[in-house]
Amino acid sequence: RLRVLSGIQPTADSFHLGNYLGALRQWVRLQDTHETFYCVVDLHAITVEQDPKVLLERTRRSAAQLLAIGVDPQRSALFVQSQVPEHAQLSWVLECQTGFGEAGRMTQFKDKSAKQGTDRASVGLFTYPILQAADILLYQANAVPVGEDQRQHLELTRNLAQRFNNRYGKTFTVPEPHIVKDTAKIYDLQDPTAKMSKSASAANGLVELLEDPKRSAKKIRSAVTDTGREVRFDPEEKAGVSNLLSIYSALTERTVADLETAYEGKGYGDLKKDLAEVLVEWLIPLQERVQSYLDDVAELDRVLAAGAHRAREVAAATLAATYERIGFLPPA
Ligand code: TYM
Repeated sequence: RLRVLSGIQPTADSFHLGNYLGALRQWVRLQDTHETFYCVVDLHAITVEQDPKVLLERTRRSAAQLLAIGVDPQRSALFVQSQVPEHAQLSWVLECQTGFGEAGRMTQFKDKSAKQGTDRASVGLFTYPILQAADILLYQANAVPVGEDQRQHLELTRNLAQRFNNRYGKTFTVPEPHIVKDTAKIYDLQDPTAKMSKSASAANGLVELLEDPKRSAKKIRSAVTDTGREVRFDPEEKAGVSNLLSIYSALTERTVADLETAYEGKGYGDLKKDLAEVLVEWLIPLQERVQSYLDDVAELDRVLAAGAHRAREVAAATLAATYERIGFLPPA
């Protein structure tokens, strides 16, 4: 079976709809066809300052959300990155294969470091995409389900894999991004030209999976749309409506064309009201499941420990092969 790996940062109290529709939904689906490895990337989280108590809490909340949306620990290795030390170890090796300028061209780094100022931005923020490459290459992943914003990091990962293979002999599988076009980029509800983002969006611009569903409904009803009336998918002219149609379609499995027909002669208000209902009905049971996982932290930690053990078997084998290729002594 082909392998899949993906990761998500535990940097918010809740995942948002962009995370879910862009990536996590695909994580769940790929379990049917692939051998799947999914991690909560706490090492990535500390590239910006984190409060230790909050980080610990968010790591568990992240795992609980992944279980609640349907990541199945029987079928997937679900683990926390820091519990598999090979990630940091391979990352060092890959850092030594990466050009300084090459890393400097990563747009997420440029954006984030520009915001923080280069003196305050950490070196970890600079090497972040290389740790991400290590995450992927350790598992010989063939496919990596992510949103559009990760495309450049995936390209770097592919380049590093190819470069290492050329220099030292075939060691890594060269992975393909798995980006589902219709939901690759979910937009901010208040600014439908920007992506929905936990760091950049205003509170009303993003739907959090764990917020009060009444609040989510209100956000949908007050989403920014154009001054027209016609419910039509047209990202150029009708960015807001098109974003709502993408979300609606993904949550209901109804095609956008079908929705356009259903809302012929109706206004944006009807569309928003119905989508708000769909969303609330999806969120309520989801939140109950999250809570039930959080009610038993000991069990949650056991699930994650078991996932880490499974992940480590694969990761350790790849790291050992890598060390040998490089010319390191055998394990002491
Ligand atoms: P992160 O934690 O920012 O986001 C998790 C996933 O959500 C996707 N995403 C979106 N998709 C569509 N529309 C949006 N508005 C939207 N916002 C976020 C992201 O593309 C991502 O797939 N660097 C990664 C974490 C990572 C990783 C990895 C991913 C670390 N190691 C290895 C894949 C493989 C990140 O910051 O994702």
